[in-house]
Amino acid sequence: MGEILVQMGRNSQILIIDDNPDVIKMAYEILISEGYQFVSGLSDLSDVIGWIKKNNPELILIDVDMPQVNGLSLLKDIVRAYPGLEKPVLMMVDQKDDESKRLAFKYGAYDFVSKPFNYYEMHARVRNVLSLKERWVKSLQDNSMLEKLLHQQYQQIHNNDLEMLQRLGRAGQLKDNDTGQHVERVSLYSALIAGSIGLPSSQVELIRQTSPMHDIGKIGIPDEILLKPGKLTPEEMEIMKRHCVIGAEIFLSFDSNYEDEKPRNRKVTLKQIYAHESEILRTASLIAYTHHEKWDGSGYPGNLKGSNIPIEGRIVAVADVFDALTTDRPYKSAFSLEKTVELMQSLRGSHFDPEILDEFFNFTDLLEEIQTLHPKNDTKDVHALDAVDKAAQNG
Ligand SMILES: [Fe+2]
Repeated sequence: MGEILVQMGRNSQILIIDDNPDVIKMAYEILISEGYQFVSGLSDLSDVIGWIKKNNPELILIDVDMPQVNGLSLLKDIVRAYPGLEKPVLMMVDQKDDESKRLAFKYGAYDFVSKPFNYYEMHARVRNVLSLKERWVKSLQDNSMLEKLLHQQYQQIHNNDLEMLQRLGRAGQLKDNDTGQHVERVSLYSALIAGSIGLPSSQVELIRQTSPMHDIGKIGIPDEILLKPGKLTPEEMEIMKRHCVIGAEIFLSFDSNYEDEKPRNRKVTLKQIYAHESEILRTASLIAYTHHEKWDGSGYPGNLKGSNIPIEGRIVAVADVFDALTTDRPYKSAFSLEKTVELMQSLRGSHFDPEILDEFFNFTDLLEEIQTLHPKNDTKDVHALDAVDKAAQNG
C-alpha cells in the first residue's frame, strides 16, 4: 500500500454512486448542508474503479439497488482494490432490506445508510466512518515511523558489529603473518557458492562478510604451533583444532546473554550459537565453529554429520580447502586447478557436501578470475590441508 494522503473532517472527498441522479442529489444536499465541501456524484457506472483511481475519494457511498449494476458487486470490486480502510464504503440500503444489509457487511462495507434518507443518521454514519479512517491512517503512519526507527537502529548495530568483526580479522591476520589475500579469496568463493545454491541475498552477504574470520580462533594458538613451518605432530594438531571453539567463543562473548564461566575448558554448542542476539556475529561464530566439520561426520570439533552441519560451515569448508590446495605452502607448491578439482572430487560425500562441491566446480572460470584478482601468497594454513593430505599422497 502506498502512502495515503487524506483530507479529514469537512474537507474529506466523498463520492456518491448511484445511477439515479435524483438519489445523488438528495444525498449531496444533506452532506453539503452539514458542511462537507468536496462531494461528488457518479451516475455513469462504466468505469467506477478508474474514476476512483483518478479522483481518490476518501469515503464512498453506493446504492445497493441499481438497475444497471449490482451495488454489492461494485462494493466487492472496491474492497478488493482497496483493502483496509483506504476507501471505506457506506451502502445506501432500503430501510427494510435486511438481506442487503447483511450482504453489505459480509462483502466489506463499513456501515450502511437507510433509504429514504434521514439527515441525522446519514451525518452520524458518515462522521463515524471518517473518524475511524482518520485513526486507521494515523496508526499506519505511527507504525511506518516505528519501522523506520527500528530499521535505522538495526542498521547501526549491524554496522558496529561489522566494523568490530573487520578489526578482529585484521588482528588475526597480524598474528598469523597473513597478508589477507587468503581470507579475501575464501570470502569470495564462499559468497559464490552461497549465491549459486540459492540462499537469500541477505544470507549470501552475511557469509561474504563473516567467512574471512573463519580462523580467528588461531589467535589463541601458541606461536610455536601456529607458525611451525612443517607438519604438525598429532599432539600439536589437537591443540590446533581448538581454534574452532576459540573462534566461536570470541564471537559468543559479544552476546550479552552468554555466560563465559570456564573459557579454557568450555564446550561450545550449536544451540548457544543459534541463540546469539546479533545476526552477523551469530553467522561468524557458526562458521568459526563448523568449517572443519566433514560430511561423513569425521570432522571436528563436533563430529557433526551431513545436513546437521550448518550450511555456512559446509560452504566455507569447500572454499577454505580449495584455497589452501591452490596456494603454495612452505613444503609444497600449489596444485593446479585440474589436480585440485580431481583431489576434492575424490572427497565428495566424505569430506564435502556433494551438492555444494558440484555447484562450486560449475564456476571454474570464475575461480581463476578470483585468484587473479587476489594473487596467491605463501600460506601457513597447514591445518586446513591436514584433512586432504592423505588423499593427495594417494592421488
Ligand atoms: Fe581453520
